[in-house]
Amino acid sequence: MIERLWAKLGKSSLQPGEPIAPHNVPEHVAIIMDGNGRWAKDRGLPRMAGHHSGMKAVKRITIAADRLGVKYLTLYAFSTENWKRPKAEVDFLMKLPQQFLEIELDELIANNVQVRMMGHKEDLPSYTISAVEEAIVKTADNTGLVLNFALNYGSRMEMLEAVKEIATEVKRGQLAIEDIDEKVMADRLLTSGLPDPDLLIRTSGELRLSNFMMWQLAYSELWFTDVYWPEFTEEHFHEAIKEYQRRARRYGGL
Ligand code: FPP
Repeated sequence: MIERLWAKLGKSSLQPGEPIAPHNVPEHVAIIMDGNGRWAKDRGLPRMAGHHSGMKAVKRITIAADRLGVKYLTLYAFSTENWKRPKAEVDFLMKLPQQFLEIELDELIANNVQVRMMGHKEDLPSYTISAVEEAIVKTADNTGLVLNFALNYGSRMEMLEAVKEIATEVKRGQLAIEDIDEKVMADRLLTSGLPDPDLLIRTSGELRLSNFMMWQLAYSELWFTDVYWPEFTEEHFHEAIKEYQRRARRYGGL
């Protein structure tokens, strides 16, 4: 099925002689898709053009991840802090999930992709949430790549909510303080049921986490590139995966 998507983008760019080890592909890749605005500015275009182009990169990298056998791809599409941007830009960003899913949902279904979302739904416009919810429902039984959009997501808020939930359970006598462990916390995060990211990619040269998955990234490999998100290609994605494969993950051990 995925061939239909591949055909549109041309042949895989994976070069002979630069193999990606199939047994060591990260199960979960998380991406901070940064640099849309600067990409547009460099071209004398409005910031929205950068976001629109960023949406095309989402498709490109979803296909690239699926081809490699990545199981979970989490994309930071809108943070709890992004509301501070001018209203016109926020409105534009809020329309992107709907636009993307209008064009791509059938392909995602045909390719066995499961759409998920993590973030606070309450503050999102109804057209955003209904598009995402439709995609979630229609792809719920799919068993291929999990495409997880972080939308109105913030790690501190996520952890605070989890702590409040735990405190409530303790107060009600449903949970003993001694039983609070990493699993209890992880189960109350928005990523409950997902493995932690093995690899975090951030584009555009910024070297920070920006309130993204700060619990879940504790032992992830971090990979940064100066490339702006709209120009991030399958080749760049492969570079990141190959670098990941060169790393030794020790999780604090030897
Ligand atoms: C950061 O770049 C990017 C965002 C805040 C939005 C990311 C959204 C997309 C890439 C499209 C999402 C697509 C779907 C389908 C949900 P920036 O605007 O901060 O760039 P700058 O730092 O150069 O200004």
